[in-house]
Amino acid sequence: MSKTIIISNRLPLQIKLEDNEINVSPSVGGLATGMKSVHEEGDSLWIGWSGLAEEDLNDETREKVQKEIEKNKCAMVPLTENEVDHFYYGFSNKTLWPLFHYFMEYTTFENENWECYKEVNKKFADVVLEHAEDGDTIWVHDYQLLLLPGYIKEKKPDTSIGFFLHIPFPSFEVFRTFPWREEVLRGMLGSDLIGFHTYDYERHFLSSARRLLHLDTNFNEISYDDRIIKIDSFPMGIDFKKFYNAALNHENEELEKSDIQKRLDEHLHSSDDCKLILSIDRLDYTKGIPNRIKAFEYFLEKYPEYQQKVRLVMLAVPSRSNVPQYQLLKRETDELVGRINGKFSTVSWTPIWYFYRSLPFENLIDLYTSCDVAMITPVRDGMNLVAKEYVATRVHQDGVLVLSEMAGAAKEMNEALLINPNNFEGIAQTLKQALEMPKEEQKTRISLMQERLERYSVEKWAEEFFTALNSTKQVRNTLVSK
Ligand code: ADP
Ligand code: G6P
Repeated sequence: MSKTIIISNRLPLQIKLEDNEINVSPSVGGLATGMKSVHEEGDSLWIGWSGLAEEDLNDETREKVQKEIEKNKCAMVPLTENEVDHFYYGFSNKTLWPLFHYFMEYTTFENENWECYKEVNKKFADVVLEHAEDGDTIWVHDYQLLLLPGYIKEKKPDTSIGFFLHIPFPSFEVFRTFPWREEVLRGMLGSDLIGFHTYDYERHFLSSARRLLHLDTNFNEISYDDRIIKIDSFPMGIDFKKFYNAALNHENEELEKSDIQKRLDEHLHSSDDCKLILSIDRLDYTKGIPNRIKAFEYFLEKYPEYQQKVRLVMLAVPSRSNVPQYQLLKRETDELVGRINGKFSTVSWTPIWYFYRSLPFENLIDLYTSCDVAMITPVRDGMNLVAKEYVATRVHQDGVLVLSEMAGAAKEMNEALLINPNNFEGIAQTLKQALEMPKEEQKTRISLMQERLERYSVEKWAEEFFTALNSTKQVRNTLVSK
């Protein structure tokens, strides 16, 4: 029977080593959380990296990791320390990530990293080819594997290959600065279908293919290498039911309390009528964390009546901490939180509760369901699933989503209060509007967004992608039989 092979750099499980024992937790990030539901439902094999360098493992731990990975219907691509350094931290996260998010001043162009990126993409191709059988469908994900579709197509031209980019595709003016632009485009064009979160990213890709490779495009199709490749947008959804039901059950269950839950309880039982504003993200410079903190400071100054009446609950998950820009951001965030708490705190009130850690799913639900407003302010974000998850958990149809226009999610969430993350005046006014929004209006906005999220769930997203990929297969078969 044919299967689907999902390939991404990060597997849905994150494995850590502690005293020769392995510690397994779910991976953080939109790709892993979204695709996890698709993987659990279907007959698929997920190929990716365990998160550990080969040198960290001995025979015993390697076997344990292997077992855990197989138990989760996954297969592993082993990476050495050198590859982690040059491929993952280097080319993926010091070149492609900042460039595609328009952080050109953070982008480095190192030939050594590029060489390693090519080698690791080939290594992924070898593992895929080991597992791929005739009739299988291959679905490659994200910026770490832009060359992989080309390498697979070269060896197995009849395989159906889909590629989905989870981050923005930058405009031509930015993409053209990239030294390896043609190779990367050709790698992506090894696919039969290329998907993006939004129409804008799709448009940018088409424009780069036209202007850099001089390819013919017809509406959303590209002729390349005697093939027609389809380019389309598929805004990724979430597992709506999982979040909605978790929020419902959460109300009825007595869970073991985490420190965050204890703080929230303490807050709920205290006599102050403080409202809670939530933010959750990986600690990443694209997420606009300093902007958010500074805008919150501006809000407290502009509307002093809100001091002691509102609190920002900020969860930041450690991410890519070997990259200097992430270390700088950590320092900047610590300093900003410290400065603002020092400036405004009273004996009974601290304006910002800041948590720097990863959390189990139940605790995320604690946070989503306990906060009156979610304030999500990326300066650039492919989609942003946190915004969607917050809305999905509001089972009483209350709460307000304040969302940056720069997130892909803003394109589908018109009922959120949209802000420009660089406009502190605008954010402060919007925050006030959110905190004062009548319950009826909250209900109207949340229920409209919930209906849409339920209808266009992650299952539906994957289904539409597969339908489009299958239709490219049919077109190929017709062309061959002619
Ligand atoms: P990105 O993909 O850039 O990290 P998204 O907002 O699209 O941003 O996705 C983040 C995903 O990570 C969400 O599905 C969210 O539930 C998950 N997540 C965020 N913070 C945590 C955390 N502290 N613990 C576990 N999962 C988290
Ligand atoms: C974003 C990217 C994913 C990545 C995730 C977590 O969601 O699109 O490809 O897996 O961030 O980042 P990490 O570097 O930890 O895999």
